[in-house]
Parts: sequence; C-alpha cells; structure tokens
Amino acid sequence: EEEGEKTLRSPICCIMGHVDTGKTKLLDCIRRTNVQEGEAGGITQQIGATYIPAENIRERTKELKADAKLNVPGLLVIDTPGHESFKNLRSRGSGLCDIAILVVDIMHGLEPQTIESLNLLRMRNTEFIVALNKVDKLYGWKTCRNAPIGKAMKLQSKDVQLEFEHRVTQVITEFKEQGLNTELYNKNKDRGETYSIVPTSAISGEGIPEMLLLLVQWAQKTMVEKLTYSSEIQCTVLEVKVIEGLGTTIDVVLVNGVLHEGDEIVVCGFQASANTLLGPIHTSIRSLLTPHPMKELRVKGAYIHHKEIKAAQGIKITAQNLEHAVAGTALYVVGPDDDVEEIKESVMDD
Ligand code: GTP
Ligand code: MG
Ligand code: NA
Repeated sequence: EEEGEKTLRSPICCIMGHVDTGKTKLLDCIRRTNVQEGEAGGITQQIGATYIPAENIRERTKELKADAKLNVPGLLVIDTPGHESFKNLRSRGSGLCDIAILVVDIMHGLEPQTIESLNLLRMRNTEFIVALNKVDKLYGWKTCRNAPIGKAMKLQSKDVQLEFEHRVTQVITEFKEQGLNTELYNKNKDRGETYSIVPTSAISGEGIPEMLLLLVQWAQKTMVEKLTYSSEIQCTVLEVKVIEGLGTTIDVVLVNGVLHEGDEIVVCGFQASANTLLGPIHTSIRSLLTPHPMKELRVKGAYIHHKEIKAAQGIKITAQNLEHAVAGTALYVVGPDDDVEEIKESVMDD
C-alpha cells in the first residue's frame, strides 16, 4: 500500500462559474494573495494555475479534525474566467481537470454561465462540488474568519439561519430544474448521485476548510486510478505569452509525466494574422519555470527554475520559436526512440 500511495499525482481542480461569483477571490483566500484586485475591471481574462501543497491543505483543514490521510502531494487549481465571452477558456479548463468547483453566488442563484459550466462538466462526466459563495452577504452575518462553515453557521442568529436555508432550498430547486440532484455537504448521504454544496465566503474564509477537505477526500476516494502517476507525457498549452526578459513563453499544464530542461518538444503552430497553419514547431526547452507554491502562474512574479519537473504542475516554458504556438493544443516530447516526423503529423491533428 505504501508504494501505491507514493505514485499518486496531484489532482487538477478547475474552478468554474458565472462572472463575479468569486472564483478568483476564493483562490486568493486560500493562497493569501491579492490576484483579483490586480485584474483589469476585476474580470479574469486568462486561465490561471496555482499549486497548493498538501501541507497547506492540512493546515487549512486541521480544525475539522478529519482523520483523512492526504495521499496526494497537493492540488493543482485552474482558475477560469466566468465572463460569457470566454467559453473557449472554460472549455479548455474543464477539459484538463480531474475534479471541479462550480461556484454559485448565494444571492443570485444559478446564472447563465453557471448552467453553461455545469453542462461542460456533465459532458465530460467530471466530478464536482458546488461552492455556494458570499454567505457573508446574508443580512446580519457574523464573521468567523476562516472557520469551518459548520461552526460558523451555529453562531449565526435565527434570522440568518432562516435566510440561509431559504436560499439553499432555492438553489437546490434551480439545480433540480437542470436535472441535477444537489444537497448540503453535511446532509448528503448519496455522494456520487447527489452533488455536495459547500457554503463559503471568499472574503472572510468561512467554509474554505470543508471545501478543501471535500475536494481532496472525493478525489482520493473515487479517482485513484486516474490519479496514479504515469510517465507518459500528457501536457496542454494554456497560454502563449511574451514576458519581458524571457521572450515568448508558453504556460502549460503538465497532467502526467516529467519534463526536463533541454527536452525536444513539438507544439502546434498557427499564424493568426495570415490565418494559416504554420505547421508543427520543433524546439527544445530552454528553461522550466514555476511560480512559488501558492502563487498564480498567470501573474508575473519570481520564478523557480527546475532541471526537471514532475506532474501535475502548471509550468512556464521558455524556448525558441514559440511565437506562433497555439493555446489549447497538446505539447509532445520527442523521446530517444521517437520519429519526429510522426510526432509532427499528430501534433497538427489536434
Ligand atoms: P470572473 O473571473 O471575472 O468571472 O469573476 P470571479 O468569479 O473570479 O469573481 P471575483 O473573484 O472577481 O469576485 C467578484 C467580486 O465579488 C469582487 O468584488 C469580490 O470582492 C466579490 N466577492 C467575491 N467573493 C466574495 C464573497 O465571498 N463575499 C463577498 N461579500 N464578496 C465577494
Ligand atoms: Mg476570476
Ligand atoms: Na470578477
């Protein structure tokens, strides 16, 4: 059993939902960062990636006294935009993940991109939990900073509890209208058929412990096979970006396998201005960079240089000729026994 536990990779968790439900703010609360306030218009316009080590999850969930062991090294969280014009990015994010958090604003209930996200997740049979966010907006809410929601709820007045129950019932009904059974996480006896709702506040942190624990427990319980580390490279390009001092870089999510500095890679190329396929780009990895744990990949900051890096991780790659790399396509590594021409052909089929 020891052996098996060591081979699990970090689950990839996508955070999705309607615009301004608090997706980025929830991540800020977990990371203790301020990414959301730095966004233009407070709107997320790119996919992000943040690595949360198991020790941070353990720390944030310790009050729950759950004796659940963490068998995964951490959690790789993918932030997505909720604005309606970024459906392609939501689709890309949901296509990458093992599990998801669907965020719903408790004051608004289900909104158009909630339903769109829900359908993307159902299309791929992706497991998810619902974060019913902004509970601190309930009239008269008493702040219990970073407390488990179970504890925070008991400290609320009868009026707050009644309004809460009323809004939860409403949201459950709205999900039912979409053909989905949902229930508050602590009342959910039928996980698997019925999706769990965890009330949260991204501003005062209530419910974050339960949200993290539920995610990791569910992933560990139901996805052992999927999360068993495999050396076969599975890697997707998230973004192509020019970074001062680094030139054109690609941000990738490495789902499985190991990448090394110097690895020969092939990615799909496209010239947007001429609207023509350029053909495959064959280059080699100059540097493998990650942000520090608990920092967002899409925000420029200090990078850690790696000689090699193991999945699952969000990584910035620098290399020559990446200017026309295509976001959303697969990255291939040319192994010692591989035929480059064959790989080049399969790259362009994506
Ligand atoms: P997009 O990425 O643009 O779709 O938005 P988002 O879902 O990431 O929401 P974001 O984190 O940008 O938050 C939107 C607004 O809601 C911001 O003004 C946040 O401060 C506020 N907000 C987010 N979560 C909470 C919460 O739990 N309580 C309260 N009161 N406000 C919140
Ligand atoms: Mg956001
Ligand atoms: Na926003």
